[in-house]
Amino acid sequence: MKANELRRMYVEFFEKRGHKEIGSASLFPENDPSVLFTTAGMHPLVPYLLGEKHPQGKRLVDVQKCVRTGDIDEVGDDTHLTFFEMLGNWSLGDYFKKESITMSYLFLTEYLNIPVERLAVTVFEGDSLVPRDTEAAEIWIKNGIKEEQIYFYGRDENWWGPAGKTGPCGPDTEIFYDMGKEKCGEDCGPACSCGKYVEIWNNVFMEYNKNEDGTYSELLQKNVDTGMGLERILTIFNGYNNVYGTELFQPIIENIESLTGIKYTEDNKKTFRIISDHMRAATFILGDPRGVTPSNSEQGYILRRLIRRTIRLVKKFGVDSNIICRIAEVIIENYGEIYSELVKNKDFVLQQLEKEYVLFSKTLDSGLKMAERYFSKLEEGNSLSGDLAFKLYDTFGFPIEFTVELASERKINVDMFAFEEKFREHQEKSRKGAAEKFKGGLADNSERTTKLHTATHLLNAALRKVLGDSVYQRGSNINSERLRFDFSFDRKLTKEELEKVQKIVNEAIEKGIDVVCTEQTLEEAKADGAIGVFESKYGEIVKVYTIRGYSKEICGGPHASNTAELKSFKILKEESSSSGVRRIKATIG
Ligand code: ALA
Repeated sequence: MKANELRRMYVEFFEKRGHKEIGSASLFPENDPSVLFTTAGMHPLVPYLLGEKHPQGKRLVDVQKCVRTGDIDEVGDDTHLTFFEMLGNWSLGDYFKKESITMSYLFLTEYLNIPVERLAVTVFEGDSLVPRDTEAAEIWIKNGIKEEQIYFYGRDENWWGPAGKTGPCGPDTEIFYDMGKEKCGEDCGPACSCGKYVEIWNNVFMEYNKNEDGTYSELLQKNVDTGMGLERILTIFNGYNNVYGTELFQPIIENIESLTGIKYTEDNKKTFRIISDHMRAATFILGDPRGVTPSNSEQGYILRRLIRRTIRLVKKFGVDSNIICRIAEVIIENYGEIYSELVKNKDFVLQQLEKEYVLFSKTLDSGLKMAERYFSKLEEGNSLSGDLAFKLYDTFGFPIEFTVELASERKINVDMFAFEEKFREHQEKSRKGAAEKFKGGLADNSERTTKLHTATHLLNAALRKVLGDSVYQRGSNINSERLRFDFSFDRKLTKEELEKVQKIVNEAIEKGIDVVCTEQTLEEAKADGAIGVFESKYGEIVKVYTIRGYSKEICGGPHASNTAELKSFKILKEESSSSGVRRIKATIG
């Protein structure tokens, strides 16, 4: 089966069962200060899991592009990926455990024909907050799973979320596929990482919200949030033993073979796999409607790490020309039909890769020589000092993880503590930025962030009024203190322009205009002049927030109900965010 067939089959299965398909959201979570990337399908749905009404109803299904940075070090094995697609279905206060488990079981065993005996499931064993989930176990048994295929685990294994520091979460039941290998020991089970069991699907019973102070409160509604890894299920269905065997990776691997003249073998498979994975992730990050450029902070830093690690591995293969753009081209071709943004942003993707290649190539060789010199003075088991690790970072552009990898190849450690210290001294400013990311809460629906969200709409509209319609949103981030808004514009704003923008927003606040939410199809909304990142699918119902006379924007909400609640608006700072993108920080009240 091909990936596209699987995507369709999954969506149609749930559509037949009353779910509405929604489009994949951006890889960059909007208005969520606590995470860098969309790591699961539930991420863009947080407001609705917390109780906000979704315009498509209570049952949803989608295929969401995700990036998980936590798995970068595992990449190269059979199943872990940085970028992946998550097949997800949701009940927003509608069905619960019985329907969810039964549908998953049916899809796997009758639609994908996976033999029941190859499945294993895990269930929450219970703790002081939530009792043992005997209900889920019984539902599995009723469906045909044998008792010996059910494993009970604690919070480490069977509790999912929140995605950031705070937000919806709950106990889950996870479905594993038994790859057929021998057990690695007596205790071998789904929680073991030996490769016998591969997690394919996770059904989370999202009943709780984790609060800022670490406590849990019950959500207004009981939700189901599920996620299945497309690449993994495709691998299993087609009988491969690793994700790189699928048609999602084969063209990339073949392309690397022809560009390097090196065959993909057991000995070099890890390098091939890392290059394929990292380039796929980098292409999707750059090609996203809110794509960022390589930089030294936040998402741009992750992107830089992925690209620079790839450049080194390609060089290790003895290739001195820039083949990373050629690899990206194959990825865009492979995915362009499903993810049209990649085709639309192809020039940007290739330009940025070229730029980063040129930049890093200049320092890579001399940096590697310098690193070699440092390592040669150390013995196995010794540590590279923080000062020298920092020098490699600062002078040669080696991301610290890159230096750690180089060092570990020689069995040398890196004094991370001292590096951090040094880093902190030199990068106080960007450190503050990073720390801020973790201060706010995931989709912190507090009144103040809601009001700041409304202020963002007014700011967006005012910028377009003053600077023209070529201005569009490139990113938004809100915490309880300020809003941060990135938009396309290629020069510094003048003092007069900033004053004008601020005045327009304050004028809208003084007028006390109602913020009105309507539901329309995407096409109607666009025809009405609504702006927004159009990620939705054709015919899909979207929410449109209108502030009459000022702003009309497609958005999930929530918002203040009247502009007067914002009291006043003040621009704190205007600066460059990346090439062609400006950033404004502002506050209210
Ligand atoms: N949100 C759940 C996960 O990512 C489904 O596993």
